[in-house]
Amino acid sequence: MIRTRFTELVGIEHPIVQGGMQWVGRAELASAVSNAGGLGILTGLTQPTPEALAAEIARCQEMTDKPFGVNLTILPTINPPPYDEYRRAIVESGVKVVETAGNNPVNHLPDFHEAGIKVVHKCTSVRHAVKAEEVGVDAVSIDGFECAGHPGEDDIPLLVLLPRTVDSVSIPVIASGGIGDGRGMAAALALGAEGVNMGTRFMATVEAPVHRTVKEQLVANSERDTDLLFRPLRNTSRVARNAISQRVVAMLDEGAQFPEVRDLVAGVRGKTVFETGDLDAGIWTAGMVQGLIYDIPTAAELLERMVAEAEDIIRGRLEKLIG
Ligand SMILES: Cc1cc2nc3c(=O)[nH]c(=O)nc-3n(C[C@H](O)[C@H](O)[C@H](O)COP(=O)(O)O)c2cc1C
Repeated sequence: MIRTRFTELVGIEHPIVQGGMQWVGRAELASAVSNAGGLGILTGLTQPTPEALAAEIARCQEMTDKPFGVNLTILPTINPPPYDEYRRAIVESGVKVVETAGNNPVNHLPDFHEAGIKVVHKCTSVRHAVKAEEVGVDAVSIDGFECAGHPGEDDIPLLVLLPRTVDSVSIPVIASGGIGDGRGMAAALALGAEGVNMGTRFMATVEAPVHRTVKEQLVANSERDTDLLFRPLRNTSRVARNAISQRVVAMLDEGAQFPEVRDLVAGVRGKTVFETGDLDAGIWTAGMVQGLIYDIPTAAELLERMVAEAEDIIRGRLEKLIG
């Protein structure tokens, strides 16, 4: 049993969080992670409307009586989704944990806190973690450069970013990006984290609602099989390398502007990859930790073995090194 301030804060057994994942963070996966003693998270914007999110939360509540959260990704887009309505759906659902990401969550905090919801803000730099603490979030997740999705523009790997963040805030810090087993978990705890957050590793579990071919590709891929898209646009995104990602990187390197690649990177194409297993149908998100994924366990098997491995390392291997 590994207890931290974070396990106490959100009322979970193991300090392991399944981060929000577009198209993947549905009730099947979130409830499986929560039933296994971790913190499962539904992805708010995977649901097309606030009403659909309310229904998905209700579905998840039927599948688990343990705590789970909802991810609210605040994107700086031209036509933003109705964030206030998504927030209302979350508040009214009785969910007790929210993961915010993408932008400063300050406008959402009063409503969440009034409803007794704990807010974990996920960010990619020390300065944003410090800001998040200042505006009153309850914990921060810090995403290293290794991570799937948006690593930011500073390119600081977790080995430096995590302890720097721990040195700079007093709220619990969750380590994110590049973690896939008990070794990564023990290392994160050693660096001062009070929990770990994983995306890619959870995609390759039995309960993840994505096509089996995608999970098998995660097992087959190495740590080198990701691409960074949108670097020249300063909106970097780490994705699984495939024919489309290579084409988009080449186009942007040659000076293409976003409108020229818009169709290739459309979210609906990524959704098709997950639904059909056609790995080149579009862009799909995955991190460097692919190189450490060797199998497709259930969420419960994964959590059990990670905790056992982390405990063995802490109590066994590390202790024995001390002469
Ligand atoms: C398929 C996929 C979709 C993701 N979508 C989101 C998202 O919508 N919002 C978000 O905040 N993070 C998203 N993430 C990032 C994860 O929540 C998490 O921060 C990241 O995966 C951690 O790095 P790891 O993959 O190395 O564990 C996504 C990750 C994956 C793999």
